[in-house]
Formats: sequence, structure tokens, C-alpha cells
Amino acid sequence: MSSPSNPSAGRSSPYAIELNGLTRRFGSFIAVDGLSLKVKKGELFGFLGPNGAGKTTTINMLTTLLKPTEGSALVAGYDLSEEDALVRSRIGVVPQKFSLFEELTPLENLWYIGELYSMDRSLVQRRSEELLKIVTLYDKRDVRSGTFSGGMKQRLSVAAGLLHSPEILFMDEPPTGLDPQSRIALRELTQTLNASGMTVIYTTHDMDEADKLCDRIGIMDHGKLIALGTSAELKSSQHYSHCIEIEFERVPEQKLLDELKALVGAISVSLEGRRASLPVRRLPPDLIHKLSDFLSRRRISTRDFKVREPTLEEVFINLTKKELRD
Ligand SMILES: Nc1ncnc2c1ncn2[C@@H]1O[C@H](COP(=O)(O)OP(=O)(O)OP(=O)(O)O)[C@@H](O)[C@H]1O
Ligand SMILES: [Mg+2]
Repeated sequence: MSSPSNPSAGRSSPYAIELNGLTRRFGSFIAVDGLSLKVKKGELFGFLGPNGAGKTTTINMLTTLLKPTEGSALVAGYDLSEEDALVRSRIGVVPQKFSLFEELTPLENLWYIGELYSMDRSLVQRRSEELLKIVTLYDKRDVRSGTFSGGMKQRLSVAAGLLHSPEILFMDEPPTGLDPQSRIALRELTQTLNASGMTVIYTTHDMDEADKLCDRIGIMDHGKLIALGTSAELKSSQHYSHCIEIEFERVPEQKLLDELKALVGAISVSLEGRRASLPVRRLPPDLIHKLSDFLSRRRISTRDFKVREPTLEEVFINLTKKELRD
């Protein structure tokens, strides 16, 4: 609950969002289960999670589209339940399924949104032109948006979310269905907006994207936040620091794999095709020398050898397990 005495209420708060036990039930089903989290102003924060984890439900509550059943949240320093109009005036939203008027041009779509926000018309005109240049749709400003590709519609959707100069931009799975060029363009646009001081909160299934883009990542599963940190922190929380990978010329015998495991002090050994993976808590000294000596004495040929750190995808799978979700 916010009150004038709440030290973090209002614009002076260092946090863009503060969630306190935020919960949403649908009947007896709990889609978001007591989420508590703070995201600092200026952060680029990503929610990751399997299908049905509760990401969109969380974003929908934070953007006032859906009422929480329990808990509270401050968004841009304003209470979600009691100051929802103020929250809406400070946030921009790019939804999972964008809703544009296909029969209208980009300029007309933006004009309509300006009306919804009761914005000054000359300001709308100026901002629209500015934004359409940023999302590289200025040349198409008078073309009916129903004729646009998925990438162009997505960029127009971002421009629509930015029209009223929000402090916080919420994007729900922005790269869905976009080609690599459009994804890169959108990533660069997100970085530019974030570099200009805007807090960006977004959800994605793209691990590589999250790894590259986010200051911090929150992993959700079954409505709960199960991990939180920078990508490096999440990776270092794994029970192994490195994974040694060896691709053999021929499928190796289990005995050889067991010997290799003992040689490098691996936690386990697994084989996929001809590629063996050996996760280790720490890299053994003199690894290359030991391995080449071991393999040459046994006259075993290899095709490839590498040592890599855990990936964000492995962190994700280790935390959320492999079973498919509804
Ligand atoms: N209006 C609703 N009525 C009933 N159940 C709902 C409703 N909206 C969402 N749910 C359920 O809540 C859970 C969380 O859904 P949500 O859309 O938030 O997941 P998500 O993490 O965004 O998934 P995705 O990655 O597929 O977008 C799902 O099991 C979903 O079926
Ligand atoms: Mg979703």
C-alpha cells in the first residue's frame, strides 16, 4: 500500500518497479504467486520462463490491465491499485499480441493513441515524426499498416508504446516471429532507449538475446521467481564452472569415458553422438597436456575439443527442468 509516508513512493524512488507479494489467481489456479522484486530506474530487466510461467500475467498487472488478487506494487513510484491512472501515464507498453489499426497508417495510428492520452496535437505530430524516424518507418508514414511485415508492425508497436515519453517501457516477447534483421534492429532500438535513461522491462524466450541485452534477469516458473541476477551471476550459480567438450572420431566406449571423467575430475560425463561433455567444478591444471597425453597413448583421434562456461540456456533448463509446459 502506498501512502505519503512511504519513503519509496513518488518520483524520488530509485526503483522503477517494486513488487511486494504480487499475486494473481484465476479461480483456484495461481498464475503469479507472491512475486517480490525491485528493479532500479534505468535497468534493462528481462523476465525469462517457460510457457505459462506467469510472465504476461505479471506484465499485465504491472501495466494495469489486470488487477492483482493479492500483494501490491509500485510502478514509477505510484501504487498500482490506488494510482493506476498515474501509473499508466508513466509507462509504455508493447504487448505480446500487438493491436494496431490495420486500416490506418502509422501516423494515424499514433494520432489515435495521442487522443487516448489527451496529448497536445502538435506534440503528437512532432513525437510521431521523431519516433517513426527512430523505428525507421518514416518513409512509410502514410502507408496503410495492414500491408506491413511482422517486423514493421512490431516497430510501429514500439513507436506507439513510446508516444507519450514513458519512463518505463514494458515489452512482452518483442522478438516473436521476427527475422534476424528485425530482431537486431529491435535489440539496437531497445539498447538506444535504455541508454537514454529509459527503464525497459521485457519478457523473452530468447536466451541469447537476454544474455546480450539484460542488466539483470529474473527466471520465473509456476508463477514464482526462482532465480534473479546478472547473466554472469546466474551462470556462476551452477554447480560446475566449465564444461569440457570432446568430439571423437568414433563413438567412444563407456570405459574410456569413465577414465576421462576421473582424469579431469568431472562431476559427470555424458555422450551425445560422438561428443562427450564433462562438467567440472574447476579446471584442472595442465588440462590440455594431460588430455593429449591420455588420448595419444590410447591412439584415440578427436575432431574437436573445447572448454566453455555454462550457458544461460543450461542455467534455465537446470532450474526449470526439461518437461514441456501446457
Ligand atoms: N484469463 C485467464 N484465465 C485463466 N487462466 C489464465 C488466464 N490468463 C493466463 N492464465 C493462465 O496463467 C498461466 C500463466 O500465463 P501467462 O500468459 O502469464 O504465461 P507466460 O509466462 O506469459 O507464458 P508464455 O511464455 O507462453 O507467453 C497459464 O497457465 C495460463 O493458462
Ligand atoms: Mg506470455
